[in-house]
Amino acid sequence: MVIKNVNLETVCGITSEFPDNPHYEVAFAGKSNVGKSSLINALMNRKSLARTSSQPGKTQTINFYNINDAMYLVDLPGYGYANANVEIKAKWGKMIEKYLHTSTKLKAVFLLIDIRHQPSDNDCLMYDWMVEQGFAPIIIATKLDKISRGAVPKHMKMIADTLQVEEDTIMIPFSAETKQGREDIWELIDSLVLPEEDIDSENVGSSGVGEQGTSMADITNASQEEIAEPQKQRKPRWKATGKETAKKTKKLQEKKAAKTAARAGKKSKKK
Ligand code: GTP
Ligand code: MG
Repeated sequence: MVIKNVNLETVCGITSEFPDNPHYEVAFAGKSNVGKSSLINALMNRKSLARTSSQPGKTQTINFYNINDAMYLVDLPGYGYANANVEIKAKWGKMIEKYLHTSTKLKAVFLLIDIRHQPSDNDCLMYDWMVEQGFAPIIIATKLDKISRGAVPKHMKMIADTLQVEEDTIMIPFSAETKQGREDIWELIDSLVLPEEDIDSENVGSSGVGEQGTSMADITNASQEEIAEPQKQRKPRWKATGKETAKKTKKLQEKKAAKTAARAGKKSKKK
């Protein structure tokens, strides 16, 4: 996306009604202080339109940034912010859940994880919840500049293993300091929200998701069905995001139970 104009259009608190937006939305979730607002600033080429802070708990509302009158980037409050009042935390949680449940324009959710650390129990819960809701969360590993280049694959694997990500999950390392990963994220968002005919012209000169993003499966693999239908243009696997990919099957429930049991097992071993 070539940024022409950006505007913080709507701010929703715990008692607000969500807007009925005319364009698609993509939302950014993650623990407090992980870098959601910083990522949104980097995507918009703005230093501080989205307010950031070294203190966790900065964003306490759901903020809708209108991009080029074509789409919205949605900044969510963080979870796991220890200092917030318990009642308020519960209300934020409900607000985020309600938004993710009810928005009819939400095309994809990004889950941000600090590349330096193992995902927390809350991160795992959030990931599992999103998958249960039918989303295929895209993982952004933030603060890439904080670790050495050589350590990146190991840290990406740690994140994938701890979250036990679904096959085909897109994971992109990103730094708001160096902007590394920005083009990959935009290319992905463009593919989700722009009409097909606009995508190629928007992405001239960009690096391509495959270069830095790590897909958990080979994104170029065509399914048998697609091979049998040469007329149909094959879509990259990472288009399979959003509610269309609802996977609320019994299998998923079973998998979740197995995951929870495995995590509980690991914990008791630690003790
Ligand atoms: P909440 O609004 O509290 O949920 O936090 P947030 O997820 O929006 O985090 P925010 O963008 O406010 O960033 C938190 C802190 O991390 C700030 O001090 C940022 O400058 C810093 N930060 C964010 N991204 C990066 C990054 O890629 N590299 C480095 N070095 N610092 C970052
Ligand atoms: Mg924030």
